[in-house]
This record gives sequence, C-alpha cells and structure tokens, in this order.
Amino acid sequence: MTEKRTDKWWQDAVAYQIYPKSFKDSNGDGIGDLNGIREKIGYLKDLGVDFVWLNPVYQSPNVDNGYDISDYQAINPEFGTMDDMTQLIEEAHANGIKVIMDLVINHTSDQHPWFLEACKGEDNPYHDYYIWSDTAEKPNDWQSIFGGSVWEYVPSLKKNYFHVFAKEQPDLNWENKQMRESIFRMIRWWLDQGIDGFRIDAISHIKKSSWETKARPDWPHSPFTNVKGIGKYLKELSAVFKEYDIVTVGEASGVTAEEATEWVGNDGYFNMIFEFEHISLWQRDKSEAVDVVGLKRALGRWQKALDYGEGWNALYMENHDVPRSVSVFGNDTPQYWARSAKALATMYLLLQGTPFIYQGQELGMPNMTFTAIDQLDDVTAKNQIKALLGEKDQATKTLEILELMSSISRDNSRTPMQWDKSDNAGFSTAKPWMAVNPNHKTINVAQQKKESSSILNYYKQLIKLRKSKDVLAVGHYEDYLPTDEQVYVYERFLEHERVLVIVNLTKEQAEIRLPQTVLGKNWSLLLTNMEEDKETSAVTETVTEKMTLEPYQTLVYAHN
Ligand code: GLC
Ligand code: CA
Repeated sequence: MTEKRTDKWWQDAVAYQIYPKSFKDSNGDGIGDLNGIREKIGYLKDLGVDFVWLNPVYQSPNVDNGYDISDYQAINPEFGTMDDMTQLIEEAHANGIKVIMDLVINHTSDQHPWFLEACKGEDNPYHDYYIWSDTAEKPNDWQSIFGGSVWEYVPSLKKNYFHVFAKEQPDLNWENKQMRESIFRMIRWWLDQGIDGFRIDAISHIKKSSWETKARPDWPHSPFTNVKGIGKYLKELSAVFKEYDIVTVGEASGVTAEEATEWVGNDGYFNMIFEFEHISLWQRDKSEAVDVVGLKRALGRWQKALDYGEGWNALYMENHDVPRSVSVFGNDTPQYWARSAKALATMYLLLQGTPFIYQGQELGMPNMTFTAIDQLDDVTAKNQIKALLGEKDQATKTLEILELMSSISRDNSRTPMQWDKSDNAGFSTAKPWMAVNPNHKTINVAQQKKESSSILNYYKQLIKLRKSKDVLAVGHYEDYLPTDEQVYVYERFLEHERVLVIVNLTKEQAEIRLPQTVLGKNWSLLLTNMEEDKETSAVTETVTEKMTLEPYQTLVYAHN
C-alpha cells in the first residue's frame, strides 16, 4: 500500500461519544434526549467532530440504561420519537457529522417479546432464541460479569437461562440461524434509515464454551469471552455490514493485539475494535502512581500490530463504563487538573487511529464525589453496594462505600454534561435524573469557551493539528523510551515528515535523555500544554539530548 493520506473517511475522523441520557435535556423532564443532541450539533461541529456514537436509545426497561433492549426498532419515549431520530440524522448530516448507533446483540431485555415468548415453553419458536440448561440444575458455576451466577431459574420451565450481564439481560443464542437472521434483518432496517454505522456492544461474548469448561483462575469470564469458533458468526455479521458503506467498531474485551488483524485487518470483521488492555491499567488508589511503562507497552503493542495498511486502531481514554480519565490516569487536584487533562489528550490523540472523545472529557470533567447512596444509579454499582452493605455496620460502611464508588463506579462518567454554571449546569431546566457534579460552577463549556488556555480549546487545537498533517493520519509509530517510568516519548513518521510527542505522565519532575536517532534534526515546537508558563518554565523551542520536564508537561515537535 502506498503511503498517502487515507481515503477512508473514518480513518481521518474524530469521533465523539454521546451518552444521550446525560447530554442535553430539551423538554424539561430532567432526562437528556434526541432533540437535546440536535441543539448541540453546532458545539460538536465547532469542536471538530466528524461522527458521533450514541449509546442505546432503543425501547428499554432501563435496568442497564438502554443496554437491555425490549424493542430494537423503537425509540425509548424518554429520548423522543423515531421522527426526532430521523431529524437528528438529517441535521447532523447537513452539518457534516455522521451518526453511528450502539448495536446490542449479545443479549436483549427479559421484557423483549422474543424472551417473553421463549418462556412460554420449549415448543415456542422463540424458545431457542435464548440459551437454556437441560434441567433444573445449573450446568456450571460460571460467574456473570455483573456478579452472581450466569444462570437464572425459570420455575414454570424448570430450566435456567444464560446471561453474561444482569439477569434481566438474557443472552441470545447465536447458534440459532433464525435468531441470527432476525438480528440481521433488524441491522439492515436501521442502516436503511440512513445511519452511518454501529458500535457493536459486548460482541466478543456471543460464543460460549461447552458447559463443562472451567473458568481460568485469573479470569472468571474466560469461558464466554473470545471463545474459539466465534469467527463463524462474526463473518456472517460482517457480510451484512459489507452490504453498506459504513463504519463499524466492535467492543472486544479479551481480544489480544496478536489476534487483532483477524478482527480488524483488511478482511476483518470490523473496521476497528475497542481493546481493553490499556484502559484496565487505571489507578484506583490516587496515592499510587500510574503504571507508565505498562501503559506505553499496551498502547504501543496495538500501534504496531495495526499499523496503517494492516488494520486500524480505535483510540480512547474514556467511555460510559469507566471512571473519568483525569481522575484515574491524570491528576484532579487543582494544581495539575488542567495540565494533566491536556497531557492525556495529547498522548492519545496523536497516536495512529481514530480518536473517540467521551462527552465532558474535552472539559476535563473529573470523577464525582458521591454524597448519598441513592445518587448511584448503575446496576453494577447497586449490586456492589448491596454486597458491601451486607458486611459491616451501617454508618462507617456508608462512608466507605461512597468513597469507593466515587473512584470506581461507572456513574462517575454518567453525571450530566456541564454546559454552564447555572443550577442544573445548563443540562436541564428540571432536576436532572442524576446528580450534577457541583464543580460545574467552574468546569463548564461556557467558561472554557471564554478562556483561551482552557482544556476545551486545547482539544480543538489538537484536533486541528491532527487533521493538518498526513503524518498524524497515517504515519508509523515508534516509542523511544519504552522503559522510562515517567515519560512517554513517541514519534510518528511518514517519509520525511516527523512529529515527536513528549509527555510527562507523572506529578514529579522528570529528566530524559533522548537517543541520537532523534537528535540532529531541525525540530520546532508545535504545541505545549504550558503555553501560559512559557516565560517561566522549561518549555524549550527545540529538542535537546537532555531535557527536564515539569509535572505533566507536554511538548509536541515537528520537522519536515
Ligand atoms: C457493554 C456496555 C456496557 C453494558 C454492557 C452490557 O460493555 O458498554 O455499558 O453494561 O455491555 O450490555
Ligand atoms: Ca428530556
């Protein structure tokens, strides 16, 4: 393949993930909705976003906030109507923004008509759409990802059904051809509505091992994660996708960099996947340092495995399932909050791949300090809290639980988007469905638009920079100091073009020594996260053999 800027639109794009329930409420019921997203298309355009991924907006009892679907072809009324969806797609397109939806096909809701039918008896045509034990006995002791057994008993049938996630999310039986065809019909229906692709939820779980398989001691979910034979179903699925000109991003926990080309190579199942290696290195205990060497190793392994022409990476630091990156990889103390948020942004936005920004990440929204148990909403948080409450005495426990949840819960990333400093953060005129982070008084879009050195403006600069250089689109990747415990130094290169990215990922000063191969070139400074301190700090206009970096200091150089 010749080295040139790619002609696949999604390889040159920046994506933005919207959690509709928490993005913008348009009708004053405290719940974000489709018309709210429409109101903010201008904001997305201004940021430089090319496509948005919407978390599920389908009909759902909301046990897992829309990941339990009861009708694939209906919009959840709390988000609006099918007409609103059509209008959103049209208006986004008119503004040059594409729209992809979440495709949840490992499981449905237990309220989906297919499952209600399935429970009526073994003779029902939908019975085999789901996965059942032969007898009343549970076939094994596998543990579900949300806690507890993967098996749930149905007294009327004297059998158990299988669920990887909550018991209200029964797994679909991918061995069943009729089931697969029903799913494929639904996919085509959505693509015919004019959407531009899908993020495919939990797709590495659709194949299960034989029931007698033992879970790996270090990995309880191994019997139903990326199991041998899964390729048969993924190929059928990708054949449907290939009927359309779309982008597909699979959520692929358990897939290694070594296997990645099978998933996203030229003949892969998807265009990109979300890998889980780097994201699992986050630091729960803030007193401990982030494993910088591990982070570089994980990111670097994927950069190398999927270099342009062999595959393509999806780049991300946040989503709706993990706590806020500035709190767990960066540093959310007042001193380093902005600087570390910019450092993380630089680190991942200049890698090779398509970057995904999760709503609020571009403001450096940190984790929430939860002050009451009932502020927590997530099904996994609730399960954990129930288990913990069972253990010790009430009062101390509540405090401990709140502290724990304020660092690990998925709810940290689900608090309403902070548009301005007004009471409900400009998210809604009513009390929001979930508590707003009190820090919206200072951390919000309106404020950051005004400040030239804000995190938001820094994201805009980075996005512009990315799009201005071929080397940042398709250039190769090299890590120069893989064993340095503080600093990430990588180069992107393409023919004669070079960009050098230097990021101190710690709260300590760092000294680096650069190898000869990097030196002796005419480097010039493109970007730093310490623009405002240029006079006083060690922002050097060019690259030298020995460099001293301030905490979280970031420098990007280029030469031609
Ligand atoms: C994916 C989603 C997560 C959801 C789970 C079950 O991991 O990202 O939010 O809870 O699948 O659908
Ligand atoms: Ca609403």
